[in-house]
Amino acid sequence: MQWCGRAAQNALVLMLAADRIAAFARDGYIVVPDFASASDVAALRARAKAIVDEFEPGESASIFSTRDEAKTKSDEYFMSSGDKIRCFFEEDAFDGAGRLRQPKALSINKIGHALHDLDPLFARFSRDPRLAAIAESLGLRRPLLFQSMYIFKQPNIGGEVRWHQDATYFQTEPPAVLGLWFALEDANRDNGCLWVQPGGQRGPLRERFSVRDGRGAIVACDSAPWPSNDEALPLEVAAGTLVAFDGMLPHYSAPNRSASSRHAYTLHAVDGEAAYSSDNWLQRGPDFPARGF
Ligand code: FE2
Repeated sequence: MQWCGRAAQNALVLMLAADRIAAFARDGYIVVPDFASASDVAALRARAKAIVDEFEPGESASIFSTRDEAKTKSDEYFMSSGDKIRCFFEEDAFDGAGRLRQPKALSINKIGHALHDLDPLFARFSRDPRLAAIAESLGLRRPLLFQSMYIFKQPNIGGEVRWHQDATYFQTEPPAVLGLWFALEDANRDNGCLWVQPGGQRGPLRERFSVRDGRGAIVACDSAPWPSNDEALPLEVAAGTLVAFDGMLPHYSAPNRSASSRHAYTLHAVDGEAAYSSDNWLQRGPDFPARGF
């Protein structure tokens, strides 16, 4: 399905008809094939490659690991990246002697966290009117884009992202964060696709990532167990697909031990009508406010 101009916006209203909205309420996610054109996907990938090519690690090299939260999240390089464009290495990028195992271009875990505001190409893609319509259809009254990430899931060393809920990083009252995940390559079980627990968004928020005195930490807030593996559904999708999911939906992605990368772009939109916690690590002041679509 191709989209263009006004006709696309009209068609979108049909796409998010009552059955799609009901599916989102039931399952916690919807899959929208062919959201991004092949040329858009190619342009985003080329821009990400250029950002990495320009990146000089220097002393600011930071390994992003969700298994070592305390170390990583307290890292100044990460904590001050919310309003910047920065590159983060895969945890397994370096050997015991501190040398890259693979070329730099195959060693970056992600680029974050303000591509949607600072890079013209990503900004244009992120503010597609169709996304505004989707966010509105899914209940966000005043969406604000707080975060963007380009995730590489590199061949051979792409790290695991364990079970989590994105609302952990966006505490609001009531819960009001929408994840938008765009496949920029085909994603499958071999290269580390998303796995979700359909319906799991109705469970409690298990963890909060809270910042105190400039240091972030994961804090348990409910003892509900994470889903078992047989409750997890793999979302094997083609490049160009959008997955929109509730910030309360438990999801994970396995390590990538295949020879193929699994690039994706993600956005997080928060409903500005909900109360946004001052404990959240992503804060925007009046000099650089979070904006909608
Ligand atoms: Fe996530």
